[in-house]
Amino acid sequence: MSGVNEIRSTFLDYFVRNGHEAVASSPLVPRNDPTLMFTNAGMVQFKNVFTGIEKRPYSRAATSQKCVRAGGKHNDLDNVGYTARHHTFFEMLGNFSFGDYFKERAIELAWNLITRDFGLPASKLMVTVFSEDDDAYALWKKIAGLSDDKIVRIATSDNYWRMGDTGPSGPCSEIFYDHGDHIWGGPPGSPDADGDRFIEIWNLVFMQFEDLPGGERVDLPRPSIDTGMGLERIAAVLQHKHNNYDIDLFQALIRASVEAIGVAAEGDTLASHRVIADHLRASSFLVADGVLPSNEGRGYVLRRIMRRAMRHISLLGAKDPTMWRLVPALVREMGAAYPELVRAEDLISETLRLEETSFRRTLERGLALLDGEAKKLGDGQVFSGDVAFTLYDTYGFPLDLTQDALRARNTSVDLDSYDAAMRQQKAKARAAWAGSGDAATEAVWFGLKEQVGASEFLGYETETAEGVALALVKDGRQVEALNKGESGFLILNQTPFYGESGGQQGDAGLVHATGLKVQVTDTQKKLGDLFVHAITVEEGTLKVGDALELAVDHKRRSAIRANHSATHLLHEALRLTLGDHVAQKGSLVAPDRLRFDFSHPKLITDEELREIEDLANEIVLQNSEVTTRLMSVDDAIASGARALFGEKYGDEVRVVAMGEGLPGSNKAWSVELCGGTHVRRTGDIGLIRIVSNSAVAAGVRRIEAMTAEGARKHLVNESRLLQGLSDVLRTPVHEAGDRLTALMEEHRKLERDLAEARKKLAMGGGGGESEIRTAGKTRLLAKAVSGIELKDLKALADEGKKQIGSGVVAIVATSEDGRAGLVVGVTSDLTGSFNAVDLVRRGSEALGGKGGGGRPDMAQAGGPDGAKAQAALDAIAAAVAEA
Ligand code: ALA
Repeated sequence: MSGVNEIRSTFLDYFVRNGHEAVASSPLVPRNDPTLMFTNAGMVQFKNVFTGIEKRPYSRAATSQKCVRAGGKHNDLDNVGYTARHHTFFEMLGNFSFGDYFKERAIELAWNLITRDFGLPASKLMVTVFSEDDDAYALWKKIAGLSDDKIVRIATSDNYWRMGDTGPSGPCSEIFYDHGDHIWGGPPGSPDADGDRFIEIWNLVFMQFEDLPGGERVDLPRPSIDTGMGLERIAAVLQHKHNNYDIDLFQALIRASVEAIGVAAEGDTLASHRVIADHLRASSFLVADGVLPSNEGRGYVLRRIMRRAMRHISLLGAKDPTMWRLVPALVREMGAAYPELVRAEDLISETLRLEETSFRRTLERGLALLDGEAKKLGDGQVFSGDVAFTLYDTYGFPLDLTQDALRARNTSVDLDSYDAAMRQQKAKARAAWAGSGDAATEAVWFGLKEQVGASEFLGYETETAEGVALALVKDGRQVEALNKGESGFLILNQTPFYGESGGQQGDAGLVHATGLKVQVTDTQKKLGDLFVHAITVEEGTLKVGDALELAVDHKRRSAIRANHSATHLLHEALRLTLGDHVAQKGSLVAPDRLRFDFSHPKLITDEELREIEDLANEIVLQNSEVTTRLMSVDDAIASGARALFGEKYGDEVRVVAMGEGLPGSNKAWSVELCGGTHVRRTGDIGLIRIVSNSAVAAGVRRIEAMTAEGARKHLVNESRLLQGLSDVLRTPVHEAGDRLTALMEEHRKLERDLAEARKKLAMGGGGGESEIRTAGKTRLLAKAVSGIELKDLKALADEGKKQIGSGVVAIVATSEDGRAGLVVGVTSDLTGSFNAVDLVRRGSEALGGKGGGGRPDMAQAGGPDGAKAQAALDAIAAAVAEA
């Protein structure tokens, strides 16, 4: 019978033929539901469409939805591998009507698909309906012709489906397949219903209500349909298998696991191979949707799933990291239906390899401790919670891994003492922190972090999401609500807002809900991973517990992204141009510009600057993909990634690579450790323009640059200025430079000519005996002039000396501001009798000045009182006459 891929497409094609839109699966991390850890049903992405908040251009849809049920409310992790139908990851096939068709058509469509297209015999099928739902009962009779004993009324919540405590809900009807009397179990509703013979394959939910916070139930705008059929279950039925792990898809994955490890899947090893195959799917799809292993939230659920599989790999005897080697098989099986798997293949492999490498360092010793302790246990004794905590804390064993390992020994962990050990460790951390000095100012954040835990950052993947307000802070204290006009801080369970770090400024944007509008002006990270949003309430009242729509200011974030990626490119371009000594000393990535400080002992020439800008822009124009990987710090540095010396990094780091490296090399052009947000392709940077180049400290230089729209506007402004300039010069832009040089040359020449003319004019157009008199026995040329620059006075005195032949020359030049300059010249034959320096002093005194200086034949002085020019000349004449 048909394989999983064929069944999936048969399902979707059938509903498209029946007027449905085939819609892609939404990501595993729900963006529109803050209450869910992972997408766990097909209707999650349509939640707001059912309630009427969101409009889509279609009213019927069909999907094959990726789902994870691990962590959070629905946690199937413990059972995986040991039962026939539990998975952490599965695909849910579903058809949806948003106020279009209702019960009758839904039943008709389902019945026709499974009995005609899938060809299941009606005799093997039976259904349940909600006990009060007479309509559904009658419709099944009419459409499927089922006898009364094949339609079972169920009164319990099994046949009333709710998404969660709040959200759309309605009575449902389930279709069961009878796997045959060789398997133990009774029909639904019977005492033996828990058996494995009758298996639910499809749930049809008649969505009619919305459950509101506080328990009120209201009608949906229009009755709707939500259905869910586990792809793995229907595949098992169609492939005549009883166990989901026997279908073609899982068999292919288990074959890959058997080949990689070299141990057959039979007897005791079967469960391990099944766990590995299941966890490979969950881990890979989670990584593809942006979750990376960590010690908090979703990242920790992923780590638990990965490590659980890795223990089984080790149990089967593999000596080296192996899980990553199974990724190609998964991509082969599922990549066509889920292209995100193909796109993220490298990231998935590297993440798995890294996790298994680091876990293996402690796995063996941890298992030895676990085995040793377990052996000591007598019959009925439970495993020490303290040891389970040591395994968690020191050996990286998530609790469920320890529980899984103890399963074979029929024992379990003493959870009370485990919890107590965990509490004690937290108390110790608090005490250590309280002594660290930050206590006074940051106390509120520490308390909050303990209370609400780390915030989950969604902003690498999305700019919009929903979140729940976990806490509000105003004036350093926790408050329950913030009213219109009030400002404070908001902590959410998850957020797309980037908290300032690594030089990149925090995000701003909007938070809203019905009747509520809140501006986010900044986002900061406290204590490593508590995201604190600085907010002002503009409309309504924001309360703790509110579910909120979160939207990062897209334009601002795009500009920041382009600037951050450009910083990496400039860093590499600086190094290539100036040398390997270039090391980052600081950076600022803002929406309007970027600033980069780096070590370099010299000025940067214009030519170097141009080369740096050209190099960086070449990579922009490559428009190559920017990739992010998660690696251990050591691996990252070994791979050539640039890291900040002295910076503290966690065990694992994000490595951002951009640009194509040298031909034949598989290393990217720029590789840096970085937790920031980046463009998808280098072309998104648009353009890089360096706008300033300066020194900030000895040996440290700073460049500032702009990108994209900022750079364009900057250049447009500069070209406007240039155009204005050429308009004034009355010349085309490209000739403006020559024209200006010519004009300046001409200006200098005119200045020279003017000075010459002024000198001539001052000396009486060639001079004459008329201005020469005698003082005592000495010829004296004494003159007051104006409009002469002080620097030309000496030349004027020389001219005077020529005219007089033998004697003393004294010239006072008054300037426009009322001051005066004075020069005295003594012809060389008289320097024995007169000292120009003495004479100039006499004149300078009259001008209110002090002293003067020069040589015996030429001296100069000045004074503030230009109106006394004549008095100065008279004083000099008197001094000459005295001699
Ligand atoms: N939403 C329904 C389910 O998950 C179809 O079973």
